[in-house]
Amino acid sequence: MAAITVHDKAFSIYLPEATLQKRIRELADAVNTDYAGQKVYFLAILNGSFMFAADFFKYLTIESEICFIKLVSYKGLKSTGDVTTAIGLEEDLHDKNVVILEDIIDTGKTLHFFLPQLQHQQPRSLKIVALLHKAEMTKFDVSIDYTGFVIPNKFVVGYGLDYDGLGRNYRDIYQLAAD
Ligand code: XMP
Ligand code: MG
Repeated sequence: MAAITVHDKAFSIYLPEATLQKRIRELADAVNTDYAGQKVYFLAILNGSFMFAADFFKYLTIESEICFIKLVSYKGLKSTGDVTTAIGLEEDLHDKNVVILEDIIDTGKTLHFFLPQLQHQQPRSLKIVALLHKAEMTKFDVSIDYTGFVIPNKFVVGYGLDYDGLGRNYRDIYQLAAD
C-alpha cells in the first residue's frame, strides 16, 4: 500500500518490506561475522521491536538466545533523574555477549538510562542494533553499533511501530505525510 491512515493521520510509504528485509539481513550478517564462534544473548525491547527482532533472528547463524523485555521509565526520587527498569529480564548477564535489539532510537534517552543497569551486571560485551535512528534528534549519549537506517525527524509507523497503539501490523514502514 502506498498510503495508510492510522487514527486521524495520513502516512505514506517510506521503507518498503523488501528494503527493510535486505537491510536486516545485512545487519544480521555483520553480527554473524563479528561474533563468529561465539554465543550471543539478544535483548529485544518491547513493544516496538517485536517484528524486527523476529526477522533479524531468522538471519542469525551464530549460537543465539533471545529475551524480550519491556522498559518502564519513572521519575527517580530526589534529583537522580529518570530511572528505567526492565520487566522480563530474569537471566544474569554476567560474562555474556549481550546485543540489544531496538526498533528506533530517537533522543537516546531510553537506552541512555537503561544501559548502566546492564553494565552493572558485567556482561562480557554489550552492543546495540537499532533498525532506525533519528540521528538529528539524539541528545543523550548512546553508541549504536549497528544501524539499519538513519531517518529524518518525521514520525514513522508500521513494522512494529505504532501511532497511539495502532499501525504495528504493516509489513512496510510509513512516514507521516506532510500536513
Ligand atoms: P528515545 O527518545 O528514548 O525514544 O530514544 C525511543 C522510543 O521513542 C518512540 N518513538 C517512536 N515510535 N514512531 C514510533 O512509533 C516514531 O517515529 C518514534 N520516535 C520515537 C519509540 O517507542 C522508541 O522506543
Ligand atoms: Mg521502542
